[in-house]
Amino acid sequence: MEKEIDINKVVRQHLEMEQFFTGFALKGKDIKSEQQKPEDNMTNAEKAAELEKIADEVNQCRKCSLGSLRTNAVPGEGDSNARIMFVGEGPGADEDAQGRPFVGRAGQLLDKIITAMGLKRSEVFIGNVIKCRPPENRDPRADEIISCLPYLQRQIEIINPEIIVALGAPAAKTLLNTNKSIGQLRGLFHEYYAGLGRPPIKLMPTYHTAYLLRNYSQENRKRVWEDMKKVLAELGLPVPEHGRK
Ligand code: URA
Repeated sequence: MEKEIDINKVVRQHLEMEQFFTGFALKGKDIKSEQQKPEDNMTNAEKAAELEKIADEVNQCRKCSLGSLRTNAVPGEGDSNARIMFVGEGPGADEDAQGRPFVGRAGQLLDKIITAMGLKRSEVFIGNVIKCRPPENRDPRADEIISCLPYLQRQIEIINPEIIVALGAPAAKTLLNTNKSIGQLRGLFHEYYAGLGRPPIKLMPTYHTAYLLRNYSQENRKRVWEDMKKVLAELGLPVPEHGRK
C-alpha cells in the first residue's frame, strides 16, 4: 500500500512538472479553444499508419529495464478511429507471450463485457499504461510508467476517442493524475486533456476485469455494468436491458 502511494506521488510530480514547463495541462477546465490539432483531421488510414509507427517504436523500446525482460511488447490494438478506448495497467503472462493486450482470463472477461455492450472488440481500441510485462506481474515502478506513458498519450491523441474507459486504479490514477481510490473515481465521468487546444475526453474509471475475477460478486459485476451503461448512454448507443449476470 505504502509502495503504491509513493509510486503515484512520483508519477504525479513528474506530470505536474511536465505541465509546468510545457503548459500542457492534463486536466483542468481552464484551457479551452476551438483550435484543432492536425490529428483531428487525419484520415483513418493516416491514423492507422501513425499507430503502426508507435507500435514499431514500442516493439524496439529499451527505455526501461522491462524492455530486456519481455518476450513481446504489447503496444495495443483496435480501431484507429475508435469511439471507446479501454486502458489497462500492463501486460500479464499471456499478453507477453502473444504481444496482444487483454488475451488472458481478464481479457476474456473484457471481451464478454464489450459483447454485452453490443460492440465488437475490433470496434474499440485496447491499450495499457505500460507496454511490457513486469517480472512476476509486480506493480510497475514509477520510472517505468514515466518512460512508457508518452506512448499511450500519443495513442490517445491520434485515436481521439470520445470516451476512455480506465480499467482499474493504476490506469485511472495515472491518466487523471490523482491519488483518489478507484472506489472514489469509478462510476463518474472525469476529464482527460490530450493537449493544448483540444477539448477534454471523457474518462470513465471502472474496476479492472482481473479485480472482478478475484472479487466476482454480483455487486461488483453490477457496478461495472452500470459504469458501462453510462458509457453507452453518453455515446448515444443503445443500452441493453440486461447486462452480464
Ligand atoms: N491486464 C492489463 O492491465 N492489461 C492487459 O493487457 C492484460 C491484463
